[in-house]
Amino acid sequence: MSKPLNILFVSSEVDPFAKTGGLADVSSSLPKAIKESGHEIRIMMPRYRFISERKFKLHDIIRLKDIPIPVGEAAELGNVKSSFISNLKDKVQVYFLDNAKYFGRDGVYQSPASKKDYQDNDERFIFFCRGVLETLKRLGWQPDIIHCNDWQAGLIPGYVKTVYGDDAFFKSIKTVFTIHNMAYQGAFPGDSFQKSGLPKEIFVPEGVEAYGKFNFLKTALYFADAITTVSKKYAEEICASDEMGAGLNGLLAHRKKDLHGILNGIDYHIWNPLTDELIYRKYDVKSIEAKIDNKKALVKRFNLEYNDTIPLVGAISRLVDQKGFDLVLEAMDDLMKLDLQFVLLGAGDHKIEKKFESYQKKYPSKMGVFFGFDDELAHLIEAGSDMFLMPSRYEPCGLNQMYSMRYGTVPVVRATGGLDDTVEDYAGGKGTGVKFEKYDPKELVKAVHRAMKIYHQPDEWKKLMRNGMAKDFSWEHSARQYAALYRELLKQ
Ligand code: ADP
Ligand code: GLC
Repeated sequence: MSKPLNILFVSSEVDPFAKTGGLADVSSSLPKAIKESGHEIRIMMPRYRFISERKFKLHDIIRLKDIPIPVGEAAELGNVKSSFISNLKDKVQVYFLDNAKYFGRDGVYQSPASKKDYQDNDERFIFFCRGVLETLKRLGWQPDIIHCNDWQAGLIPGYVKTVYGDDAFFKSIKTVFTIHNMAYQGAFPGDSFQKSGLPKEIFVPEGVEAYGKFNFLKTALYFADAITTVSKKYAEEICASDEMGAGLNGLLAHRKKDLHGILNGIDYHIWNPLTDELIYRKYDVKSIEAKIDNKKALVKRFNLEYNDTIPLVGAISRLVDQKGFDLVLEAMDDLMKLDLQFVLLGAGDHKIEKKFESYQKKYPSKMGVFFGFDDELAHLIEAGSDMFLMPSRYEPCGLNQMYSMRYGTVPVVRATGGLDDTVEDYAGGKGTGVKFEKYDPKELVKAVHRAMKIYHQPDEWKKLMRNGMAKDFSWEHSARQYAALYRELLKQ
């Protein structure tokens, strides 16, 4: 076997320490899978105040204390703490970059009270990106690859190629950048650029400037040695249109030969109905009948009445434009005419929450809503629902449709990005879910209606459930693709 690689994986969210969405799941499960395949991989993330020192047994690394990290004219001090994540076999070391001024807060990107982004997110993540590189030097651990995720880590490829371009420590390091969502770019007013310490000449439209702003994502797309995104279909979509490429499709198309779509996997240690401690009753494909007990527990939780013949549709989501809940709201009166129940777990846009709340008041016997972030309830919804609704406007990959299939919960999805790549429309006994193409409330209602028709043919429905449960969405295959890409860059 060829020599194992050293990889540093950089992310602003890692489950179980900090999570606002799927990035956290991926940043924990992908490194574990890469480690399992024989490579040395470590993770670096910010140490937000809410990450409990006691619960996660964080410990200081003495030689990584008081590292001066340039932010604008000043040097801010960083300290590094460490902990681990593990599955049954392997442990992955996690480094936390700590600075009370930037990360001693209750939110990840925004204040939980005001739901407004922190005003100094530019400085926070300039500090983080530069701090990651300064930490590596102090640590004396020289990875072959730095694998950066989303805009929060986007400046790292830029620093490696410019500010640290002549530094022998970084000379042979290659950078990989994964796009989890083109809509979040980290675009800040032009003056932010000076705080980064990056060379002036790159702040041009052919460089890291986009529409007058300093754009962290663009910095990554410009400098990274390879770019990946989380499904093949999304890789195509973001090059093809201005809307999907969120204004950066020109640069993406230019880098097309370095852009790879590698589908996310899911962590079967965490999302497996046979071992899931967070659900009411465990089951698998052989004991599929036990799923019903989870449905009973779930409807009770939402104060709905259990009825054997009525399908329960679940949804778990960030409530933001991307996720298509405007379609659900537009379709709500029509959906409620169907003989179904609907439960939603979501957090995000206050206006969307309010609208769902008023529909819940209008249809109290058919609909339940819970606003907030609740991991335990998310597992129960996956286990207890009959169908799972994901009508996304766009979806780079999406994890919940894959969790759903594992739990025998049939996904009803819009055919976009990773949803299209992972769900096969059911027909003639084959397929794993129900898909619709057009972003239109009528199409959504039709798709739910079609799913209900199958639901009322129990043998067909069981087949559909089983098809989904039999799918293998484990990380193994994708982890191999990442490793092959790392080797290709290193020419090893
Ligand atoms: P995205 O990253 O765009 O939000 P994904 O489908 O990739 O979408 O991942 C979403 C992840 O966040 C899943 O693990 C899902 O269960 C979780 N999640 C989203 N909203 C909530 C919530 N309100 N409570 C608990 N978990 C949530
Ligand atoms: C983003 C995307 C989602 C994807 C996740 C993990 O948040 O919106 O589709 O599954 O990242 O890659």
